[in-house]
Amino acid sequence: MPRRMMLDVLKGKAHFPPPLWMMRQAGRYLPEYRETRKRAGSFLDLCYNPDLAVEVTMQPIERFGFDASILFSDILVVPHALGRDVRFEEGRGPLLTPISAPEIAALEGDMFHVNLEPVYEAVRRLRAKLPDETTLIGFCGAPWTVATYMIAGHGTSDQAPARLFSYREPPAFKRLLKVLADHSAAYLIRQIEAGADVVQIFDSWSGVLDDASFEAFCVEPVAEIVRQVRAVHPDVPVIGFPKGAGARYESYRQKTGVTGLGIDWTVPLETAKALQRQGAVQGNLDPLRLVAGGQALADGVGAILKALGDGPLIFNLGHGITPETPVAHVEAMVKQVRSAAR
Ligand code: CP3
Repeated sequence: MPRRMMLDVLKGKAHFPPPLWMMRQAGRYLPEYRETRKRAGSFLDLCYNPDLAVEVTMQPIERFGFDASILFSDILVVPHALGRDVRFEEGRGPLLTPISAPEIAALEGDMFHVNLEPVYEAVRRLRAKLPDETTLIGFCGAPWTVATYMIAGHGTSDQAPARLFSYREPPAFKRLLKVLADHSAAYLIRQIEAGADVVQIFDSWSGVLDDASFEAFCVEPVAEIVRQVRAVHPDVPVIGFPKGAGARYESYRQKTGVTGLGIDWTVPLETAKALQRQGAVQGNLDPLRLVAGGQALADGVGAILKALGDGPLIFNLGHGITPETPVAHVEAMVKQVRSAAR
């Protein structure tokens, strides 16, 4: 067995059963997370408290023995560390003060790494504490997805505010993506230096863009981040997760240079199989199969293992686990993946 199986898969090797983790694996579906969360105060207090951030990062590892651990934080600490106002309200998700074109021109990152020091401290402590065979994943949001929240000030279903802003204020929008790409790259580099083995870039909203916008707002900024990270750490794998990229997944990997590709649950398994010929894929169980459990879960897990099990696969959900997921269903999924035989 390689020391960290997921790293081997990201080099293009197949392992069966595949390494396994879940996006949003530390979160509200776990009673122990809800307990820690109560003690923390606000959600951002939890992200910036290394003791508590380490505690919640470890919870799913201790419970399920996943092959990878993802740092507990949020993609919106980047705008927060750039001085923007970011809050999380119970039941409403993130709330930010919408950024204007003049404010974009004035954005600066003087205090960026100072503000994020507690995150780097959490990564250092995690690498020391995790089992040696567990891969540690650092992450950031992709510039487009982070920009959607900065412009609208909250989540929306189609990102109309950010799309309109991009058409009406092209120079300001371009600068925003550039500031986010440069700072996100620097953020990932620091996470790697603190002990992250792999980094993942979450582009949760890449599915709402036309061709030209996808190219300019998703592909180019992520390619820029990959270039900057590789210039310093050429051997650290980067996973891109352009959720909803559909027919663009293949060219996304080629043009951005990401090592591994996170695929959402709408990607046909046959397409995923073709993507696997270019490198590792990660995914793609519908998170609602995990909520439903039973036959729906068993069938979903079985189909992925059958279609993708003989290539480089990191078993995961096709998006984050939802709070209403029963813990027993996660246990059933882990058991099915781990006991799979070809
Ligand atoms: O995966 C993990 O366990 C690591 C932690 C993690 C969180 N958010 C913790 C979190 C990661 C990797 C993220 C990424 C993230 N955050 C994304 C990209 C992935 C995706 O799910 O699309 C996005 C778009 C965000 C922004 C964000 N943060 C939203 C929209 C929300 C509200 C929705 C929700 O699930 O509550 C958050 C809050 C958030 N981030 C929570 C957690 C555990 C829940 C808040 C709480 O506990 O009170």
